[in-house]
Amino acid sequence: MSLQPGKSSAPRKNDRFSSTGFILAAIGSSVGLGNMWKFPYITGEHGGAAFFLLFIICLIIIGLPVLLAELAIGRAGRGSAATSYVKAGGPTAFAPFGLLQVITPFIILSIYTIIAGWTLHYAVQSFTGKLFTNADFGSQFTAFTGGYMPLVWQTAAIALTMFVVGKGISGGIEKFNKVLIPGLVILLIILMIRAVTLPGAGEGVSFFLNPDFSKLSAEAALVALGHAFFSLSLGMGILLTYGAYVDKRQSLGPATVAIGVGDLIYALIAGLIIFPTTFSFGIAPDAGPSLVFVALPAAFSAMPLGSFFGGLFFILLAIAALTSAVSLLEVPVAYVMERWRFSRTKAVIICGVVLLIIGLPSVLSFGMIDSLTTIGSKSFFDWVDFITSNILLPIGGLVTTIFAGYYWKGAADAAGLKAGWFKVWLFTLRYIAPVLVLLVLLHTSGILKF
Ligand code: PFF
Repeated sequence: MSLQPGKSSAPRKNDRFSSTGFILAAIGSSVGLGNMWKFPYITGEHGGAAFFLLFIICLIIIGLPVLLAELAIGRAGRGSAATSYVKAGGPTAFAPFGLLQVITPFIILSIYTIIAGWTLHYAVQSFTGKLFTNADFGSQFTAFTGGYMPLVWQTAAIALTMFVVGKGISGGIEKFNKVLIPGLVILLIILMIRAVTLPGAGEGVSFFLNPDFSKLSAEAALVALGHAFFSLSLGMGILLTYGAYVDKRQSLGPATVAIGVGDLIYALIAGLIIFPTTFSFGIAPDAGPSLVFVALPAAFSAMPLGSFFGGLFFILLAIAALTSAVSLLEVPVAYVMERWRFSRTKAVIICGVVLLIIGLPSVLSFGMIDSLTTIGSKSFFDWVDFITSNILLPIGGLVTTIFAGYYWKGAADAAGLKAGWFKVWLFTLRYIAPVLVLLVLLHTSGILKF
């Protein structure tokens, strides 16, 4: 395998993104369950608007510089995430960290597709009205997730993702996002209008958008920063991989801003759907991960045409999840294609099958197999989530900032920024981002407590 800068393996050479296709695909990657499922409940748990403000600050100050770094490294290296640091001209000591950024998204995908599967099931249940035949949504959720059906739905989600990735960059991932990202906006706007016109919706809007600064805390700041990483899909090789398919002429600075703004708009609209709805129906916004699967169905059941709006909501979640899932799967697929020179189809099949196997202990850990349901303090699923989101992801981000800030001679050329912006960017990557990301890592891994 050649590690020379600029040398890429044959199958990927001409399959590139168009300019808008790339931005839409990157927005598709960033807008996912993080925006629609995780962001509302962590915002709810950390006091609403003040947390949203922190998230915006973290996204701008740390998220965007790291995003730009990942894209620039990816484009300069034109390899898979595993080789891009070295192919971009960096020291070989970075190679194992590159490999880690192939493994991380692969493991994340094994649980991400479980939740994507849940959303598909909930969409069907809602449209058919079955979801509302039993008003005990908590037990419905436990009974469903504890059975074998989630495995069936997860397989469907994996198959769909494999289909899109199998069609390649311009003919698969780009096309898919070009249709679904605008489609997502339309669904979001319909649901937002429905939510903000519900009786008592104003209270939810003000919870989300009227900051109470007494709620700010160091803990909330670290959670917000961690979420900015999660939401922008940083630290897991996705933008290193996507960057390799970006044309030399594309300006990365404006593209980075467009992706950040896109992600933020989706988070904003998601909040404007969830909080007015929960407040209008007297549901606590801090219900945690089950918020959208347990609390929201209760709201939909009490709403005129609730089964239709509920169905739309879960379709929207499924679309958001699938546009992210394709970006996660592309990382190991690009690696397998590069490493073993396999065709895309072969790489997709291998990755899909392995994915299904490594996902099994997680999908069966909701009640099917007792020994997986409680391992110490958490279920197998929760452990995978904890280790990937809280440990591997910040490590990935830290490596990118240290590489781009200290070890990458080609940074100035590759980023294509004007001198002033380049200085700001480099300063952030050297002195601000690594310190803050390290704090997040220490906090999320439980070493630093408040
Ligand atoms: N950024 C996407 C989201 O917020 O859902 C996808 C994502 C992928 C999130 C991988 C987190 C993650 F670890």
